[in-house]
Amino acid sequence: MMARRNFIRVLGGGAIVAAGAALAVPRLDAMPASAIEGWSGPKTEERDPRRRAIAWAMLAPNPHNMQSWLVDLKRPDEIVLHVDRDRLLPETDPFGRQIVVGQGAFLELLSLALAAEGYRADIVLFPDGEFAMDRIDGRPVARVRLAKDAALKVDPLFAQIPRRRSTKTPYEGRPLTEAHRQALIVVHNAASALPLGFAVSDGRAGDLRDIATKASDIEMNTPRTHKESIDRLRIGAAEIAAHRDGLVLRGPGVWFGRQFGLVTHEKAMTPGTTAWQGGRDYILAPYANATSFGWIAAPSHGRSAQVLAGRAYARLNLKATELGVAMQPHSQALQEYPEMADLYRAIHKATITPESLTVQMFFRLGYAATPGPAPRRSPDSIVMG
Ligand SMILES: Cc1cc2nc3c(=O)[nH]c(=O)nc-3n(C[C@H](O)[C@H](O)[C@H](O)COP(=O)(O)O)c2cc1C
Repeated sequence: MMARRNFIRVLGGGAIVAAGAALAVPRLDAMPASAIEGWSGPKTEERDPRRRAIAWAMLAPNPHNMQSWLVDLKRPDEIVLHVDRDRLLPETDPFGRQIVVGQGAFLELLSLALAAEGYRADIVLFPDGEFAMDRIDGRPVARVRLAKDAALKVDPLFAQIPRRRSTKTPYEGRPLTEAHRQALIVVHNAASALPLGFAVSDGRAGDLRDIATKASDIEMNTPRTHKESIDRLRIGAAEIAAHRDGLVLRGPGVWFGRQFGLVTHEKAMTPGTTAWQGGRDYILAPYANATSFGWIAAPSHGRSAQVLAGRAYARLNLKATELGVAMQPHSQALQEYPEMADLYRAIHKATITPESLTVQMFFRLGYAATPGPAPRRSPDSIVMG
C-alpha cells in the first residue's frame, strides 16, 4: 500500500499520469456529441418546413465556421436571411466578401432542403438593395418565399448534405481524375453561368501550390490576421461544446499538450512555439503534395455575384462528396488586405482571371479519408427574436 502511494508520488501526479490518461483513453477530448448533433438533420418533431430546411442549411460550408447567418421567420411562408454582423472576419475578410459567399452556400442548401420538403424556394437577392462593396450593412441578403410545388423532384445532391466536408488533411498523391473533373463541370454548368477553372498536375497547378503555401505563411506571420484565426480556435472538447463554431483543435495529443501549457491560444499566437509550428505544419503539409486545384470566378462588382459563387461552390462540394472527391477551400491568397496584395495579383494571373472578374473560391481537390463533421450551433440560435 505504502509502496504504491510512494510510486504515485514519484510519478509526480502530473506528467506521467497525464500521459497515461491520454494514451489509455482513446476517446479523450473527443468531439462533443452536442456540437455535431445538427448533422442528423432537423428534429423529427419539427413540423415547420422553414425550420426543417434551416437545420439542413446550417450544415453549409462557411468561412472559419462562423455561421454568420440570421433568419427572420416572422412572416408565414417566408425566410428572410441576414448576415449576423457580430460574426464577421474584419482582418482577413475586410470587405465581408467571404462572409457573403457563405450566405450563398446557406441559400443553396436551404433551397435543396425546401425542395425535399415539397417547396420551391423563390429567392430574391438583396430585396432592399445590395450592400456596398466595402461593408456589410443590416439589410437582408435574401427573401425566400416558399411555394408548394407538387411537381418538384428531390435533387440527389440533397442526400449529400450530411456527408459533405471541407477535408483539410493531406490527400493521396494521385490527381483528380478526368472523369471526376468532367462530372463536376457538368453539375456546375447545369446550374451556374460562373466561370469554373481547374489545374491538374500541370505547371499551373505547381504555381498555384506555391502561391497557396506563401499566402498561408503571410497570414500566419501577420499578427493581426493570424490572431483572427486563433481567436476563433476552440481548443479541446469543453471549448468546442461551449461555442459549437470556429476552427477546432482536440484529441489525446492536444489534451496532453494542454496539461503542460504547451497548447494554449497564447502559444498558438507566438512564432517559435510548438503550438505555432504545429499549426503551420497542419496548414502547410497538405499543400506539399497537392496536385489538383479548382476555382470559381464571378464579376468583381456586385454582391449578388458573391452569393451566386457561394451557391455554386456548395453544389460543387456536394457533387464532389457524391463522387468521393475531397475538397478544401484555400482563401488566404484571395484575401483583400495589404500584405496579401502581391499574392492576390499572382493567383488572379495564374488562373488567367480578367480584371472584371474576381476569384471567389479557390480549392484543393483530391482523394482522402472522410473526416468527422465540424461543429454547428443549434438552428434556434440563428432565428431572430
Ligand atoms: C467563403 C469560404 C472560405 C473558406 N476558406 C477556407 C480556408 O481558407 N481554409 C480552409 O481550410 N477552409 C476554408 N473554408 C471551409 C470552412 O473552414 C468550413 O466550411 C467550415 O470550417 C465548416 O466545416 P465543413 O465545411 O466541414 O462543414 C471556407 C469556406 C467558405 C464558404
